[in-house]
Amino acid sequence: MVALKPIRLGVNIDHVATLREVRKARYPDVVEAMHLCERGGADQITVHLREDRRHIQDLDVERLLECSLLPVNLEMAFTEEMIERALKWRPHSVTLVPERREEMTTESGLDLSCLQKNLSSLSKLRESLRVVGFIDPDLSQVSLAQELNLDGVEFHTGPYSEAFEMSLRGRDNNSLRHQIQRLIEASRAADNAKIEVKAGHGLTIQNVSHLCEISEITEFNIGHSIVARSLLMGLEAAVREMKTHIQR
Ligand code: PXP
Repeated sequence: MVALKPIRLGVNIDHVATLREVRKARYPDVVEAMHLCERGGADQITVHLREDRRHIQDLDVERLLECSLLPVNLEMAFTEEMIERALKWRPHSVTLVPERREEMTTESGLDLSCLQKNLSSLSKLRESLRVVGFIDPDLSQVSLAQELNLDGVEFHTGPYSEAFEMSLRGRDNNSLRHQIQRLIEASRAADNAKIEVKAGHGLTIQNVSHLCEISEITEFNIGHSIVARSLLMGLEAAVREMKTHIQR
């Protein structure tokens, strides 16, 4: 029998909060969503507290940390404000991401050289938390992660998922091969350096399979496609519930 690789799934529930914030409503509740993720077999809950608080709010992080049975991974920019919050809240891990106000979502990996400007804050974070850098799959960034003693790296799979879409449209298979090769090489280098390897961004049921074959990857963080899929899977039941209710 082939042993299944224990690959972990972190579910990013930012978009549950996005839906709430467009109406400034009380629902959908992120804690309820987190419990459903637990029941579905998630290994971790991931949330990104953005500087502009466009989806997840401070209170969400506090409630999730209080109620979650799963490790909570906090994605955040490497700023004084966020470092202070992370040290106060002590999530299981923090993933350092670049952040630009005008971007729709995290558009590139973090250039880890920016951490070198504030090594004292980095070591404070490392003293109490696992610190992961969200980086492009570049060997130079992996070397920096090793130099900075990061616990893990999460490879930005956005370019891979775009190349996957292009290849589906029959436009470009070379680019897909190139992106997979980059991820393989960077994952090997990080694993050799004893750095935990994770991957995320733009992953879906269709495109994640290629990456499951990279044995060094121990964790995926997936948000948008799971939340989108859950809407379609749950829509019929939600309509039925309302119809039954108003007919009673
Ligand atoms: N990992 C990181 C570091 C991210 O910033 C995001 C997006 O918030 C994800 C994973 C999840 O990406 P997606 O929502 O496209 O699955």
